[in-house]
Amino acid sequence: MSGLNFLSVLTVFLGVTMWLHLRGKGRKIQDNVTLNSTYDYIIVGAGSAGSVIASRLSEDSSVTVLLIEAGPSDEDYEDIHIPLKSLALQRSELDWNYVTTPQNSSSKALKDNVNFWPRGRVLGGSSSLNTLAYVRGSRHDYDQWAADGCEGLAYEDVLPYFIKSEDNRVPWLQDSPYHGKGGPLKVSPGQVTDLNPYYSRAMQELGFDIVDCNGESQIGYEPLTLTTKDGLRCNTARCFLGMASDRPNLHISVNSLVTKVLIKNKSAFGVELIRGGRKHRVIADREIILSGGSINTPQLLMLSGIGPKKHLDSFKIPVLADLHVGQNLQDHIFILLYFYPNVSMTITPEKVDTVWNHLLYKTTGKGYFSTSALEGNAFFNTRDRSKNAHADVQLMFFSAHFPDFQIKKLFILQTEETVLKLAKQNRNSFVVAATLLHPKSQGTITLQSTDPFDPPIIDPQYLTEKADVDILLKGMKKGLELGNTKSFKELGINIEDTYRHFAQCTEHDRSSDAYFECAIRHYALTVYHPTTTCRMGRKEDPTSVVGSDLRVHGISNLRVADASVMRNVVSGNTNAPTIMIGEKAADIIRGVNSVKNIKLKLRNLK
Ligand SMILES: Cc1cc2nc3c(=O)[nH]c(=O)nc-3n(C[C@H](O)[C@H](O)[C@H](O)COP(=O)(O)OP(=O)(O)OC[C@H]3O[C@@H](n4cnc5c(N)ncnc54)[C@H](O)[C@@H]3O)c2cc1C
Ligand SMILES: *[C@@H]1O[C@H](CO)[C@@H](O)[C@H](O)[C@H]1NC(C)=O
Ligand SMILES: *[C@@H]1O[C@H](CO)[C@@H](O)[C@H](O)[C@H]1NC(C)=O
Ligand SMILES: *[C@@H]1O[C@H](CO)[C@@H](O)[C@H](O)[C@H]1NC(C)=O
Ligand SMILES: *[C@@H]1O[C@H](CO)[C@@H](O)[C@H](O)[C@H]1NC(C)=O
Ligand SMILES: *[C@@H]1O[C@H](CO)[C@@H](O)[C@H](O)[C@H]1NC(C)=O
Repeated sequence: MSGLNFLSVLTVFLGVTMWLHLRGKGRKIQDNVTLNSTYDYIIVGAGSAGSVIASRLSEDSSVTVLLIEAGPSDEDYEDIHIPLKSLALQRSELDWNYVTTPQNSSSKALKDNVNFWPRGRVLGGSSSLNTLAYVRGSRHDYDQWAADGCEGLAYEDVLPYFIKSEDNRVPWLQDSPYHGKGGPLKVSPGQVTDLNPYYSRAMQELGFDIVDCNGESQIGYEPLTLTTKDGLRCNTARCFLGMASDRPNLHISVNSLVTKVLIKNKSAFGVELIRGGRKHRVIADREIILSGGSINTPQLLMLSGIGPKKHLDSFKIPVLADLHVGQNLQDHIFILLYFYPNVSMTITPEKVDTVWNHLLYKTTGKGYFSTSALEGNAFFNTRDRSKNAHADVQLMFFSAHFPDFQIKKLFILQTEETVLKLAKQNRNSFVVAATLLHPKSQGTITLQSTDPFDPPIIDPQYLTEKADVDILLKGMKKGLELGNTKSFKELGINIEDTYRHFAQCTEHDRSSDAYFECAIRHYALTVYHPTTTCRMGRKEDPTSVVGSDLRVHGISNLRVADASVMRNVVSGNTNAPTIMIGEKAADIIRGVNSVKNIKLKLRNLK
């Protein structure tokens, strides 16, 4: 037997062993759990927030909990648990496959000016197919929420919940008071490629400190940390539900679409769901918690009679509460800057697909499969250079060469010969993405029809406010400055190649702002962070849908807890903040303060 064949056999053997091991740790979610007629709590949606809430509420063995998820269990999909395969999950049957309406002020290089919006439709929700970056946002985000009327959500209030969730395995963060040990959410170092030291040095040349962006100050550059453990994805299904799924007081009903919240006399008392073509009604003795995410939660509320009166009237849906549901939609967008080194350090399909790489991963959980290719993160404010600033731009460093078919599949970019040629000639590229953190432009989620199986209409209204272009333009220029650092030049990077990606803007003078505006309006893309469609605020605030206790204004026994309740989108990726919302929601619902001791320990921190 040749060496290669031997290795192949060994790889397959180890693969099977590892798979059995993974499965063995099991959870076995029953496909067709027999539903009881009533539960104390019903949670709709098993995503980043819903899985956390179900796990925490069911800690109390005297209450019964039903968690309802439209998609299947994540257990049978191996790709979910392998971080590098995250892109392969998009546009699969585990994805809601949403698209936006054609955009007028952005997305001009995208087919039909439409952005593709992946969302998880599986246990774990979008935490089962996201890019695994562990980012909490800025302390200023939460302090601003509190100042706007969201009591109990100031930074000092939410930090203990981030810590409670966390099991930080990052060597250089072990002594940090900002991080937690022993929680369900595993956080590990994410640096795999040799590009890392080049990123750090280049950012230092530009005046950035190397910091823990989840620590005292978010401003600076950090080698990114990921929500993984031993090279496996820590989605909320595995890491939170995993410890709860065999509790007798918790039922998890998968492949079940909730079509309506049942409300009588302004009080929610149950839900209607469809599973296997059959309709079921389930009653909640205490309350119903909606965690369907920023798109589905507003859709379900509107279908149930809670939403803007005029809009519901147009579908003849009786209005139970006239609220700003589906309004205030905020999403991040980024513009990708491709850099082309003359050495191959980036992740390429060829490097991934070797016997050695498979073997390394299966035996040690290391190597290219253990990362999503996101390896670095930087935050800064384009107008305020102080350490305490509230960041308005994020740079994300992706150490992967995206093959052009993948770019086309994911972003639906119009074919551009120059760009494709460039990608074919030089397969060493990596990407720095400049991200707008606080969009002024706000969009909407509205109903297309009263059929719960129809997707709602998603109109993010990207870049309709000129101020957004002005900030992203500064962020983009900062990203391009990287091309002139000594560190990037050592890699043989020629910044001309980066500019060649903006092929539709060549009629503008490159020293003009018009050039950058053109590039942004053509090529900026969603970062997959829609939020704020059921935003939190005081009852008197006409833009708000829920109060700081997460209760829907004017309806009893009904709360929302997912990314849709954010007052404003946070400065960074939204998974950890949504998990925090789930943790906080569970405490609010149970009427306990589970983080008293953590808060005491933090008292001496600034
Ligand atoms: C491609 C991608 C990459 C991302 N990368 C990152 C990243 O690197 N880091 C980061 O921090 N964040 C990232 N995010 C964002 C982050 O994952 C989301 O903000 C977060 O998961 C949202 O959590 P949620 O609980 O609000 O909704 P979700 O996690 O989407 O959960 C909603 C759940 O409810 C279910 N559901 C919806 N409607 C119904 C219904 N009517 N009946 C039954 N079930 C229903 C859905 O199927 C889903 O499982 C990414 C997102 C995507 C899509
Ligand atoms: C689930 O159970 C119902 C009734 O208990 C049955 O009719 C249906 O076929 C089952 N579905 C599957 C997928 O097993
Ligand atoms: C966008 O453009 C289309 C076609 O020109 C127009 O019908 C639509 O009203 C515009 N929408 C907005 C929000 O400007
Ligand atoms: C379902 O009902 C049975 C019978 O009443 C009860 O023993 C069980 O605890 C219930 N389970 C849940 C999760 O509500
Ligand atoms: C409706 O709710 C109100 C307030 O909770 C209560 O006073 C009233 O009796 C209820 N009416 C009916 C018919 O249940
Ligand atoms: C890459 O470029 C650098 C800087 O120009 C140069 O020193 C180096 O020799 C080049 N390496 C290769 C392999 O061409």
